[in-house]
Amino acid sequence: MEKRVQELHQLLHRYNYEYHVLDNPTVPDAEYDKLLHELIAIEEKHPELKTQDSPTVRVGAEPLSKFDKVNHDTPMLSLGNAFSEEDLIAFDTRVRNEVGNVEYMVELKIDGLAVSLKYVDGVFVQGLTRGDGTTGENITENLRTIYAIPLTIKEPLTFEVRGEAYMPKKSFIALNEQRAANGEQLAANPRNAAAGSLRQLDSRLAAKRKLDIFLYSVNDLREINASSQSEALDRLDAIGFKTNPERRLCKDMQEVFEYIKLWTEKRENLAYDIDGIVIKVNNLAKQDELGFTAKSPKWAIAYKFPA
Ligand code: IVH
Repeated sequence: MEKRVQELHQLLHRYNYEYHVLDNPTVPDAEYDKLLHELIAIEEKHPELKTQDSPTVRVGAEPLSKFDKVNHDTPMLSLGNAFSEEDLIAFDTRVRNEVGNVEYMVELKIDGLAVSLKYVDGVFVQGLTRGDGTTGENITENLRTIYAIPLTIKEPLTFEVRGEAYMPKKSFIALNEQRAANGEQLAANPRNAAAGSLRQLDSRLAAKRKLDIFLYSVNDLREINASSQSEALDRLDAIGFKTNPERRLCKDMQEVFEYIKLWTEKRENLAYDIDGIVIKVNNLAKQDELGFTAKSPKWAIAYKFPA
């Protein structure tokens, strides 16, 4: 029986990863459901075989009465903002004055909610909101319902990975169609809808909202043997996380401006909302040299699209 449970975990984790992270399903949904129901039946008879990384936790757990407050191992900072090319040139000038020539990793700024995921020996054990940056709320049960968050990863690492949970436009439209049909108040935008879902004390309700996630940072890049942001993203991919494939390594501000222009024009075509572009000094040693202010890293900046 235990061996079959292990087999089912492996198969379901793999099918889930192929479907929700790689976006490349290899078996029909019915096959996944069949195996999942086999596992649910076993766990009902043998509750002692149910683990925190069982694929069955995706459906949610018993409602909580409140979320616990938990301190972040390292604070969750935010980014300084830029609203114009001049702001970005000022940023670039400061960076080059301090550390010389740099490359920038340029990413889309996902309009969702920052979350921090803790893995111990490769198993997802805790997920927090940003909160005030020092203390977040424990929303682990809700995050477990997001299929794109791996419950186990491909290496037995103990570390924290951070990213943005969001509601895809498609899920948002479906949610509001359903609310309209029920005569309920509509959600204002995907970001609010995602926030509402993650604040549900009943994770079985959160499970009904189709949220997604992109991971983009690690507390300490050395923990995953990365010496730059681009390597870190590639490593996160290899470990089993979903990162945003839309990203570009730029060798100067000219290339950064081209990338910003590209997405200013094309952002409507994306399956999710973005509210800007994030520009990060790629090299870790140079990031370290630049350091932080009290609130944000000096090696990165967020360009915000005009409202
Ligand atoms: S890096 C030190 N990369 O934008 C903070 N942030 O104020 C490092 N965001 O709180 C954040 N997409 O919630 C980073 N590709 C991305 C992002 C991103 C969205 C959010 C995040 C952060 C806020 C910046």
